Amino acid sequence: MSGVEIKSPKEIEAMRVACQMAAETLLLVGEKLRVGMTTDEINQLVHDDTIRRGAYPSPLNYHGFPKSVCTSVNEVVCHGIPSPTRRLKPGDIINVDVTTQYPARDGWHGDTSATFFIGEPSKEARHVVEVARKSLELAIAEVRDGARIGDIGAAIQEYAEGQGCSVVRDYVGHGIGRKFHTDPQVPHYGERNKGARMKAGMIFTIEPMINLGTFECDVDKQDKWTVYTRDRRLSAQFEHTILVTRDGCEVLTQRKRPLVGSEVFGDPLLSAT
Ligand code: MF3
Ligand code: CO
Ligand code: CO
Repeated sequence: MSGVEIKSPKEIEAMRVACQMAAETLLLVGEKLRVGMTTDEINQLVHDDTIRRGAYPSPLNYHGFPKSVCTSVNEVVCHGIPSPTRRLKPGDIINVDVTTQYPARDGWHGDTSATFFIGEPSKEARHVVEVARKSLELAIAEVRDGARIGDIGAAIQEYAEGQGCSVVRDYVGHGIGRKFHTDPQVPHYGERNKGARMKAGMIFTIEPMINLGTFECDVDKQDKWTVYTRDRRLSAQFEHTILVTRDGCEVLTQRKRPLVGSEVFGDPLLSAT
């Protein structure tokens, strides 16, 4: 694929810094989440932690997005806007999507998200979150120089549909670098041996959105951001920023310790290479 940037070792080193900041901020969120907290309090936490690191929260003012992080609760697929009136209650699931830009090292972005349980999850909630987590893990295992973008989507779709879930089509993974969203597009559905070839030095996100019911989505008519499942059933998502290498990949947003809030399933992404 011609248009996709191949990063130099120096650029990769700077990317690692931004990605590790995002990973650390997401870990902090996991530690602080509580029943009764508002999603705007999560926004404040992410904003302050990002600024404290000398970085900038990429979502803020991105195409007019009004906050510093996306908080997507239950039937919200992605791009949920933090709100001072949305309090977390027992049984909720929430995806927190952190993107950090580090201006001191050329402004590279790191993008990562996870879905957390608030209190005890229902069986359905547990299922969709685990399928989303495992989808990302299986997708990461497909990444290496010479493999094709379609292999990623195929791995996710085969697994998630086999588990009785569906894969969102309207939003995809993306190249990332000094710009938040670039080529290639990385669909989370598709066919093996199709699509562009991955090349060592490419960096992109994989961020499967997995629904319990239909994959179809609606965008909020008023705020123009919040994406809901059309049937208003649950949706879950996990995201990592990934560097393609000769023999596999490096998960640039890999967490250095397990994510609190996902202990139910452990956090095997910790050991993914
Ligand atoms: N972080 C999201 C992604 O994974 C994008 C959020 S764009 C925003 O691509 F404007 F909603 F923040
Ligand atoms: Co992303
Ligand atoms: Co993201």
